[in-house]
Amino acid sequence: MQFADRLLQWHKKHGRHDLPWQKTSDPFYIWASEIMLQQTQVITVIPYYMTFIDRFPTVTELAEASLDEFLSFWSGLGYYQRARNMHRCAQTVQIQYQGKFPTEYHDLVALPGIGPSTAAAIMSQAYQKPYAILDGNVKRVLSRLHAIKLCIDQSEGTKHLWSLANQHMPQEHCRTYTQAIMDLGATVCQKKPLCHHCPMTEICLGHQQNNQTTLPIRKKKQKAVVMPMAFHVYRNQQGEYGLIQRTHEGIWQDLICFPHSALNGKQTITQTHLLTHRRLEISYEIQDTEPDGVTHWLTKQQLLQSAIPNALRKMIDEIDDVFNIRGHS
Ligand code: ADE
Repeated sequence: MQFADRLLQWHKKHGRHDLPWQKTSDPFYIWASEIMLQQTQVITVIPYYMTFIDRFPTVTELAEASLDEFLSFWSGLGYYQRARNMHRCAQTVQIQYQGKFPTEYHDLVALPGIGPSTAAAIMSQAYQKPYAILDGNVKRVLSRLHAIKLCIDQSEGTKHLWSLANQHMPQEHCRTYTQAIMDLGATVCQKKPLCHHCPMTEICLGHQQNNQTTLPIRKKKQKAVVMPMAFHVYRNQQGEYGLIQRTHEGIWQDLICFPHSALNGKQTITQTHLLTHRRLEISYEIQDTEPDGVTHWLTKQQLLQSAIPNALRKMIDEIDDVFNIRGHS
């Protein structure tokens, strides 16, 4: 039995069957779940997805919401570029397609934030069409199955994997197949593979060559550039923090943040935060006077409901405690 049949058979018993986005064939909800699931784990996405379908039940509601409202809904999920693209995508679908998601692959892939794999995930899961996905999970599965020695993040390797993904894609059971290959990658063919639970061992070249743990091969990462950042923290008598809205450029575009400058050497680093190409070394300095450039005043509670960087979210409890302890002494 070949890959697709084995996978479908395995999925009946061992796949995930109760994820909330599996209850619908509406392309709008499937699209929303796919974007949320990029770079974010299922367990984190579920409550956001439930709130999303409640607050933005159709393309029209999302297109008509303000970006600020949508970013504040997104607050806590991180990678806010996804949210900005989603909002733009909903507006495009509203205007160009009268609020109905397109049904053709080439129309989907032209929308903001929808790449080839996401377009295929919508085609297969909403419309039962044989389009193969190729996300991180699938790259791992296929590079082991075929013992691919090319780097999976360079064009030759990616091309080869796309070709394999398309070759395996069955003409029927498209939705189940897509879900099943993601499930196999997420639950069995994990970074540390659980080959004794895998339905593919008989046909897996990586397993036969015993190099499943060294696959997939990735290009060596460039070292992240270190970027020191000192937050200037000021809280007024009303318990509100002085904040800025970051610009449209660089990291944390448009997000609300403490005013900051480069580290001056005196502060202690309280957090390091990895972005794609940078390592932020973050410290904060409590100030007794209002820093320059403040445009927003928000309490801790309001801050937590706003579009703020996750790095700030992680330290706001500690900062608030510092003020509360000072206030009571
Ligand atoms: N990751 C991306 N899409 C997914 C889905 N539909 N189910 C679980 N994990 C996913």
